[in-house]
Amino acid sequence: MSGMKHLPIFYKVVGFLAVFYIFFKYLINFVMPPLPQSLILMYLFLAIVATTLYISLFEERMQEFWDPVLRFIRSNEGATTGVRWVVLVVVPFLAGFSTFQKLTPTATPPLEQRVIHPAPPREYAQLYNPIPHTPENILAGKGMFIAYCSPCHGPKLDGKGPAAAGFNPPPANFVDPGTIAQLQESFLFWRISTGGVGLPVEGKPWNSAMPRWETRISPDNIWRIIMYEYEGSGHKPRTWE
Ligand code: HEC
Repeated sequence: MSGMKHLPIFYKVVGFLAVFYIFFKYLINFVMPPLPQSLILMYLFLAIVATTLYISLFEERMQEFWDPVLRFIRSNEGATTGVRWVVLVVVPFLAGFSTFQKLTPTATPPLEQRVIHPAPPREYAQLYNPIPHTPENILAGKGMFIAYCSPCHGPKLDGKGPAAAGFNPPPANFVDPGTIAQLQESFLFWRISTGGVGLPVEGKPWNSAMPRWETRISPDNIWRIIMYEYEGSGHKPRTWE
């Protein structure tokens, strides 16, 4: 430890503050959740106040602390002059660079808060499927699904149709347990009938490519397509029972 004793107090203080910061910023994360940066800076401020008190308590300690700093600033030795120039250039550059980084706007788009399954309008919530659950009706639904829906939602109902890659939000994947398996038939009837333009405010940003099918497909046929969506994906519609 005799080596430590002769280490100038300036390096001891800088070393202490560095270890202090690294401890609260990184090491502590192994045993507890990370501390907020503002709290770490507050601790660091207190540590700086404490070390300042410690140094300024005695005249000799003050002198010992500033000695290497003054020597660095005043020295005329070749090597020190070179290092001094590096510090004089690098420190202002780093300060300028970090200010630039903080003030430059980034191109990251803001997070979109889109409600994927908003509540359907009241007139749709009460509907039930009037079409009998027969193989003929399901087959008819399959034919219409392949014709109208598979380009986007995919022939395997997994949302990977040939046109899917071009759309954001992507076409729904009906096999995924997060879509139609969570929904009632009446919800699907609403979404298929009114499409992306029928989404309420919370379902924005209204850029859904889902077409509004009520203008092209009769209600009975929409019910048949819904029947096939469940049959083909292996899910059951959600009911209130
Ligand atoms: C042009 C591409 C396209 C076509 C064609 C298309 N859809 Fe969609 N569909 C989408 C997109 C994109 C979404 C996801 C965004 C949204 O919810 O509006 C979607 C969403 C849906 C949803 C909502 C799923 C959920 O989890 O909320 C249903 C149901 C649906 N489509 C059924 C159909 C049916 C049935 C057809 C055929 C009659 C069809 N779609 C044809 C693009 C399409």
